[in-house]
Amino acid sequence: MESVVEDVVIGIIGGSGLYHLDNLTPVKDVNPETPWGFPSSPIKICSLSSGTRVAFLARHGIGHTISPSAVPSRANIAALKSLGVRAILAFSAVGSLREDIAPGDFALPTQIIDRTKGIRPASFFEGTSVVAHAGFGDPFALKFVRWLEERVRRTLEKEGRGAKLHTDKCIVCMEGPQFSTRAESKMYRAWGGDLINMSVLPEAKLAREAELSYALIATSTDYDSWRENEGSVTVEDVFKVLQANAHTSRVVAENILDDLQTAVLDGGILTEEVGCMRSSIMPRS
Ligand code: ADE
Repeated sequence: MESVVEDVVIGIIGGSGLYHLDNLTPVKDVNPETPWGFPSSPIKICSLSSGTRVAFLARHGIGHTISPSAVPSRANIAALKSLGVRAILAFSAVGSLREDIAPGDFALPTQIIDRTKGIRPASFFEGTSVVAHAGFGDPFALKFVRWLEERVRRTLEKEGRGAKLHTDKCIVCMEGPQFSTRAESKMYRAWGGDLINMSVLPEAKLAREAELSYALIATSTDYDSWRENEGSVTVEDVFKVLQANAHTSRVVAENILDDLQTAVLDGGILTEEVGCMRSSIMPRS
C-alpha cells in the first residue's frame, strides 16, 4: 500500500452536502491506493492560515455519486490512516426521530443501533486468518465527543441561525437506499433511537479497528416518517436544509481545527483508542 505521510493528524469526512471545505486553503490532492481500493474521492489536504492542515474526504464522492451502501469505507479509513491521521471528525446529514431535534439542529451522538449488520463489509480482518473482536460498547471516542461539545455549541450560537446542539443521542444506521416506513420510524423511536442515517456504519467500526478516534457531528435535515399527519421524508425535504447545514459545518470545522490539532498532538483525547486493538485479537492456541 502506498504510504504517504502528509503531516496531517486530523481527518474530516464530509457527508451529503459537504463535498469540500472551501473556507480553507487547498494545498494538494492525494489519492492513496489501499488494499481495499481507492477512497470515495481524492483526499484534499487543506490548511488554515495558522498552518494547521487537515485531510478532507467526501464520503459520497465529490459529485455525490456513491450511495451509502456502496461507500468504500475500508479504503476511506485506511487511506486517512496512511496519511498520518489520528482523529476523524465526520459529518453526516441525519433524520430526526425526536420532536425537539429540529431540521437545522446539530447533534453529537454517543450510541448507535446497527441496521446494516451483515450487509456491508465492516471489518479489516474479514477474509484473513486473524480473529479480532474490537470493543464497541462506546462506538464514538467519548473524550473527543466531550471535547467537541462546548466548542460546537459556541460556534452554533455565534452563527446565529438558532441551531441547537443536542448531546448524548443514539443514532440508528439503516441500510437504505429507500427511507424507512412509518412503522420502522416509530419502532426506532420505541427502541430509543434519536437520529437516523445511512452512513455512520461501518465507518465508526473501521475507525475503531484502525485505532483512530472518531466522532460524528450529525446535522439534522428532516423528521423522517414518524410524525402523524405529516408526509414521510423525501430527498426534497433533505435538500432544503442541506446547504445551510453544510455552511455551518464548514464554520464549525474552521473554528475548532487549531485547538483540535493541539489536542490530538497532546494525545489527551486519543487515550482510549491508541492501542485498543491489542486486547481485541484472539490468541491462537
Ligand atoms: N439522512 C437524512 N435524513 C435521513 C432519514 N430520514 N433517514 C435516513 N437517512 C437520512
